[in-house]
Amino acid sequence: MEGFLEAAFLKERIEARLGELLPSLDQEPRRLYESVRYSALAPGKKARALLCLASAHAVGGETSDALDAACAIEMVHAFSLIHDDLPAIDNDDLRRGRPTNHKLYGEAVAILAGDALFAEAFRVALRSHADRSRAARATLVLADASAALVNGEVLDILSEGHEPELPLVQVIHERKTAALIGASCEMGAILGGGSDEEIRSLRGYGEHVGIAFQIADDILNVTATPETLGKATGSDAERGKLTYPAVMGIEKARAEAARHRDEALACLTGLPGPTEPLVQLARF
Ligand code: IPE
Ligand code: IPE
Ligand code: MG
Ligand code: MG
Repeated sequence: MEGFLEAAFLKERIEARLGELLPSLDQEPRRLYESVRYSALAPGKKARALLCLASAHAVGGETSDALDAACAIEMVHAFSLIHDDLPAIDNDDLRRGRPTNHKLYGEAVAILAGDALFAEAFRVALRSHADRSRAARATLVLADASAALVNGEVLDILSEGHEPELPLVQVIHERKTAALIGASCEMGAILGGGSDEEIRSLRGYGEHVGIAFQIADDILNVTATPETLGKATGSDAERGKLTYPAVMGIEKARAEAARHRDEALACLTGLPGPTEPLVQLARF
């Protein structure tokens, strides 16, 4: 319980800092910056930012080491969701319990708001730490993850309607989701001043959490309702998406998510700082 309370407090800090770092509304064209802030400040879980901060803590670092980088990661994530929801990609109308960006601002502004967030993320990441070499190393990790995410999104779209087979689903999930979640942990560990071995352990933790996370998202697309989830459900099957439930059914997908959670937890041994928030985040 204490861990969740701590996470709620950190989430508020992340949201407040994100609000400061995002382009303000006194710039023109205002419509672009409204669109950027609409999506980036929409009520999401901030899971990647929390993982980044918890990873910095796990290597003995401070929140201030990784807070701006955590916001940069959330900017990349928000960009990916705006584009993921576009008619040409998943064609979704609901996100975080609200109309998707293009539904409010139109497709042209939504595409460009995503582009603006992507650029802003790298500006913020590169300036995220007084130790410039740490910041540069973390920014490269963010660039690699962004490239993997785009690659995975393309595979996800090109594979729609194909025979569900495990190796392909694994590759899609590793790239479209686990790469950024793994990067969130790796960046936190770098910025928190972790050793190479600690950084590798947290990267491993994050990748397993990332796969478990996408499997859980796939399962919720089958079992949850739009009211509780804040986004469409049943849509993966409609579009013939390659998901874990499509390959192996819900029960085996649940077991697979639990296996990745356990592998994630096994990566946490031997870290110098507190790991309880990472344990709780993996279980969540
Ligand atoms: C949604 O991510 C996209 C996936 C990779 C499954 P989140 O579930 O983290 O979305 P928000 O940020 O909480 O809305
Ligand atoms: C989201 O994938 C992954 C990225 C945006 C990179 P999904 O399309 O499976 O996620 P939701 O269900 O729309 O959030
Ligand atoms: Mg998608
Ligand atoms: Mg989608």
